[in-house]
Amino acid sequence: MQIKSITDQEVQQYRAETRGTTQRIHFNNAGSSLPPDVVVDTVVNYLKEEAIYGGYETEAKYKEQLNNTYSLIARLINADKDEIALVENASSAWGIAFNGIEFKPGDEVIISEMEYVTNIIGFLNAEKTRGIKTRIVYNDEQGNFDLKTLVEAISAKTKLIAVTHIASTTGGVMPVVEIGKIARKHNILYLVDACQSVGQVPVDVKEIDCDMLSVTGRKYLRAPRGTGFLYVRKHILDKIKLSFIDGFAVKSVSQDEFKLKDDARRFELYEKNRAITLGLGKAVEYALNIGVDRIWHRVQQLAILMRRHLNNIDGVTVHDIGDQQCGIVTFSVSGFEAVAIKNKLAEKQINVSVGLAQSTLIYMDKYHLTSVVRASVHYYNTEEEILLMCNELTLLLKTVASEVYPK
Ligand SMILES: Cc1ncc(COP(=O)(O)O)c(C=O)c1O
Repeated sequence: MQIKSITDQEVQQYRAETRGTTQRIHFNNAGSSLPPDVVVDTVVNYLKEEAIYGGYETEAKYKEQLNNTYSLIARLINADKDEIALVENASSAWGIAFNGIEFKPGDEVIISEMEYVTNIIGFLNAEKTRGIKTRIVYNDEQGNFDLKTLVEAISAKTKLIAVTHIASTTGGVMPVVEIGKIARKHNILYLVDACQSVGQVPVDVKEIDCDMLSVTGRKYLRAPRGTGFLYVRKHILDKIKLSFIDGFAVKSVSQDEFKLKDDARRFELYEKNRAITLGLGKAVEYALNIGVDRIWHRVQQLAILMRRHLNNIDGVTVHDIGDQQCGIVTFSVSGFEAVAIKNKLAEKQINVSVGLAQSTLIYMDKYHLTSVVRASVHYYNTEEEILLMCNELTLLLKTVASEVYPK
């Protein structure tokens, strides 16, 4: 199906609807995107109402809209609303899923080289405390996940395949649909960290065929900080054990027993920030109105352009490899620490971030990288912004060269 590109006029409209774009060039969308004004206003207005009418009273008034957040998320990832739990961030979502699995000593977990630090700590912890064994499937030399090696790594002991769709500090995208087919064929549980992908790439849990998927709100979804969600496939709800349960998670409780809710809300706690829940709903609605397939198309175009311009600067090395690249662009600048580049660009109101080794440890170690500059584009960024950043980098390198080799 032909994707209708986001037009320049639409980009201008989205920028006009995002206060932050008038202040800075924001290339830290993989850290936390600039939220649309409607998201910020929703949160602020809700808090103001709470202050006047009371927290519980305001919640009662917005009950329907708050509930609608589940339906919007379900639409976004092609799930059922009963399969969504709202949590504070992707780490909580991932932790609830992973730690809820009933591992036996000797069970094996297959992972990729793109895993985030939370996940790596989770694997190490489970190795120590539950006797599991982790097997890493490395990408091939071209930077592509090796499906053949995955199949070879599967054994009768494989309990889980856990992969990260898009890593924190690399541009590559994992073939989650193909991995899902293999997981299903071998009847292995499948957990996907979609923290960097939801809102950037169309994510369809039925197509991926995953059992669990963890997501954060503040990155490519442009939702407020402190939001996130976990998807758990209906049929495996009972396979994920809970370690902490409050009254919200149960449908009944007596002095002798309790019964968990039939849906994924059993993974939530009662007390949460309703204002940002509503903000998350608005952000999801905003993305759905644009169309994530269109967002993905523009993000890729901008990232290709950024990589092309960076590659043309003497002294800049772009690190991203793999056939399928996303909006996260990582690079190094000769003679500069990544943090120095971040600070220099910040002086010009350009936000980039530093990708430290620990955030994608296996991959970074493999390529002997300690830190990289991470410039992550979103659909509301423009070609002009990319050129401005690249001009600043060129100027910086020229200034250093003239200081080292004065004419
Ligand atoms: C790939 C990936 N997974 C998980 C996380 C953790 O997300 P959160 O900070 O929302 O817990 C991050 C955060 O940067 C990430 O990049």
